[in-house]
Amino acid sequence: MHIVHTLNDLRAALQPFDAPAFVPTMGSLHNGHLDLVRTAKPLGDVTVASIFVNRLQFAPHEDFDTYPRTLQADCDKLAAEGCDVVFAPSEKELYPEPQGFKVQPPTELADILEGHFRPGFFVGVSTVVMKLFQCVFAQAKGPRYAVFGKKDYQQQMVIRRMVQQFALPVTVVGAETQRAPDGLALSSRNSYLSEAERAEAVQLSLALRALARDALAAAEGLPAHRAGLEERAMQALAGRGWKPDYLTVRRRVDLQPPTAADATTAQSLVVLGAARLGHTRLIDNFEV
Ligand code: PAF
Repeated sequence: MHIVHTLNDLRAALQPFDAPAFVPTMGSLHNGHLDLVRTAKPLGDVTVASIFVNRLQFAPHEDFDTYPRTLQADCDKLAAEGCDVVFAPSEKELYPEPQGFKVQPPTELADILEGHFRPGFFVGVSTVVMKLFQCVFAQAKGPRYAVFGKKDYQQQMVIRRMVQQFALPVTVVGAETQRAPDGLALSSRNSYLSEAERAEAVQLSLALRALARDALAAAEGLPAHRAGLEERAMQALAGRGWKPDYLTVRRRVDLQPPTAADATTAQSLVVLGAARLGHTRLIDNFEV
């Protein structure tokens, strides 16, 4: 496996290949990331993972400085999965000067839910992903695939929309969320949890599953009852000591509130949630 830190070395490593299959990450890899690599492997003639903690997508009060950085362990895991190239640039390499040009995703998709609670987050994500696509795919002649986890449901939608609106020659592939045996969605931020918090953390996914059941039971009454169901789900978590940002039922197509027609159409809904447990903010979702 090649581990490269500069754009020139990345280009040299990819030069013999036509069809990179790409997994962008911020490192601190867990089985969810490795599953993205397993998904990517059959899609191209070379599998590339990037490891870059992207300052642009963190607000000043967020965990950029403390975000776990475990490059050697990450590379060992990637090598064991048969990843071919790891691109781990420094900030100076990827942003040699302040990144003045930014990708501004559409408000109606990017300023709701995660974007509402983390203003600027999707500008930072879209900008770095656009740049990483340029780095990884510039020399490709064959199909270009990029794999993203469905745990970051809204992120994946933003990236799909970016690819579509900029006519990027990239196919975005979504991979299912990987979970611990108790049902907790795997996340690098789970490492922040104390033992007691880790035992409690599964309650976010349980609250979302309960909300999904309530939404399905409401059927065409969902638009009228949605706010009440969401409030009840958030109060249940708050009663256990969480600080929920949102637990909500949306339609999959654009993450807007579902109509009665959406509510009675199979496979059209998704429940999404974000909540803070102690100092750790966790997110999760289920397609319903
Ligand atoms: O999902 C992540 O890890 C990051 O948001 C991404 C896509 C690597 C961009 O920094």
